[in-house]
Amino acid sequence: MKISIIGAGNLGLAIAKGILAAENLGVDALYLTKRNTKSLEAWSEGYNNVSVTSDNHKAVTASDVVIFAVQPGQLTDMLMDLKSSLKASQHTIISTITGKKIADFEAILGQDFAVIRSMPNTASAVSQSMTCISGNRKAETKLELAKEILATLGDVMVIEESLMQAATVVCASGIAFWMRLIRATTQGAIQLGFDAPEAQHMAVQTCLGAASLLQNGGGHPESEIDRVTTPKGCTIEGLNEMEHQGLSSALIKGLVTSFNKIEDIKKTS
Ligand SMILES: NC(=O)c1ccc[n+]([C@@H]2O[C@H](COP(=O)([O-])OP(=O)(O)OC[C@H]3O[C@@H](n4cnc5c(N)ncnc54)[C@H](OP(=O)(O)O)[C@@H]3O)[C@@H](O)[C@H]2O)c1
Repeated sequence: MKISIIGAGNLGLAIAKGILAAENLGVDALYLTKRNTKSLEAWSEGYNNVSVTSDNHKAVTASDVVIFAVQPGQLTDMLMDLKSSLKASQHTIISTITGKKIADFEAILGQDFAVIRSMPNTASAVSQSMTCISGNRKAETKLELAKEILATLGDVMVIEESLMQAATVVCASGIAFWMRLIRATTQGAIQLGFDAPEAQHMAVQTCLGAASLLQNGGGHPESEIDRVTTPKGCTIEGLNEMEHQGLSSALIKGLVTSFNKIEDIKKTS
């Protein structure tokens, strides 16, 4: 398999690292492109199957899979320019570009291309992304391939494209929501007597432990809560106080508010 990453910036290079580490993918050639390739010198020197170029046409022509990872405002002009080198019979297209729909690609390239839209999050940098993907009808047989490639960034879930905006809030904005919860736990721990590094370590590991209990055990959060709450005990007293102060309600309302804000931005842009 030959892959191009068009726009080898933060996310593009995280994908490149994942692809190069996944030997089972069988990648014979990986092309990394950006307009100014100086920062990519180490990549072309360090691997014999990696080529760095500012020539998107050259990279695309030599590839079967083309991953677009430029900024949203850079896509249209770039795609118009690349149109002559993209062939529906040769290329599977994967986009990581926030807010760009499959229809945006089809509007420029036509309906014959397999196009897969993905929404990774910033935890891609540590191979812990929750990446949602969806594809058009032509991409039905290519979804597994896209899953394999994007699984190098973390976990992948196939969803309907109509839910991509909701997935953006839950998974991409979600990183900020979880960070704030961890920070608040850290601040509480400092108030209870720990110094800041200790407090953050405890908050992060406890958060990881709670997530792992659900991920590995497959249980329900409420069952795990039942295991740590004793009648008239301290945990239920604290938890109920958090709920009286609106913890669950604040989170749900925050998610819905972020979702509605994207709708407003779309109407005014
Ligand atoms: N970072 C994340 O975790 C994340 C998560 C979800 C979605 N996304 C989406 O993924 C995309 C990339 O994000 P990012 O954070 O990686 O952005 P970034 O670091 O700015 O990377 C974009 C890269 O595109 C290159 N570029 C621009 N125009 C180009 C062209 N015509 N041909 C080839 N390369 C070109 C830029 O380099 P030059 O200026 O040198 O050309 C830059 O390195 C964005 O659309 C973002 O919304 C990112």
